[in-house]
Amino acid sequence: METHKAYFLSAILVLAMLSFLHVQSVQAARLSPVEPRILMPTGKDEPEVDDDGEEIGSRWAVLVAGSSGYGNYRHQADVCHAYQLLRKGGIKEENMVVFMYDDIAMHHLNPRPGVIINHPQGDDVYAGVPKDYTGEQVNTENLYAVLLGNKSAVKGGSGKVVDSKPNDRIFLYYSDHGGPGVLGMPNMPFLYAMDFIEVLKKKHASGSYKEMVMYIEACESGSIFEGIMPKDLNIYVTTASNAEEISWGT
Ligand SMILES: *[C@@H]1O[C@H](CO)[C@@H](O)[C@H](O)[C@H]1NC(C)=O
Repeated sequence: METHKAYFLSAILVLAMLSFLHVQSVQAARLSPVEPRILMPTGKDEPEVDDDGEEIGSRWAVLVAGSSGYGNYRHQADVCHAYQLLRKGGIKEENMVVFMYDDIAMHHLNPRPGVIINHPQGDDVYAGVPKDYTGEQVNTENLYAVLLGNKSAVKGGSGKVVDSKPNDRIFLYYSDHGGPGVLGMPNMPFLYAMDFIEVLKKKHASGSYKEMVMYIEACESGSIFEGIMPKDLNIYVTTASNAEEISWGT
């Protein structure tokens, strides 16, 4: 039962990411018969436009593993896996910000030092994952600063923030434990629903994205949004559980 649900939820995550990646690859494909991925590096100098002459923005991703410890292996493993999928989908490394405690790969309990897998027969998903915010830098203050694109508010880490523009799209993946109105963090304080929604409102008010997709994989994760999330922020949210149920160890 648990395994069943875990696979189901992983499938949803993959679908959420694929649909996020799809939007722009379709737009890019219209512009040229060439592989959209090959076009990406030129995007910087001349903004690409779609059929309606509207500028195609950049895609950003923020990946958060909100726990630490070997017993929580899955959260960081899933974040690493998400990173690899998004890279394959063409998101630039400079547009991805990774929060992970980074105590798994070299943990003394890890039978394969330096390797993280997210499937029993899976390949390494750790290699290449940027260490933007690790250890005590994995905290809500840095997460909020990163989302708001406020470089001066970030403490430690790579300093990478979501410096997004009005036409950009943002994907947020958060994997962790949760409870009613709260998501975990390896360093205090936890992420509280009302604080998080204030950050999202602020981001929206700054006009610095077109659409956002969030996938929150935690127990009671529906409670971060149900009944309190404004509907006019252009944010699509999907959660692993509703406001009142556990998420079965995913
Ligand atoms: C960025 O963060 C700094 C330090 O916390 C703060 O003083 C400033 O107001 C923030 N800037 C914006 C645009 O929110």
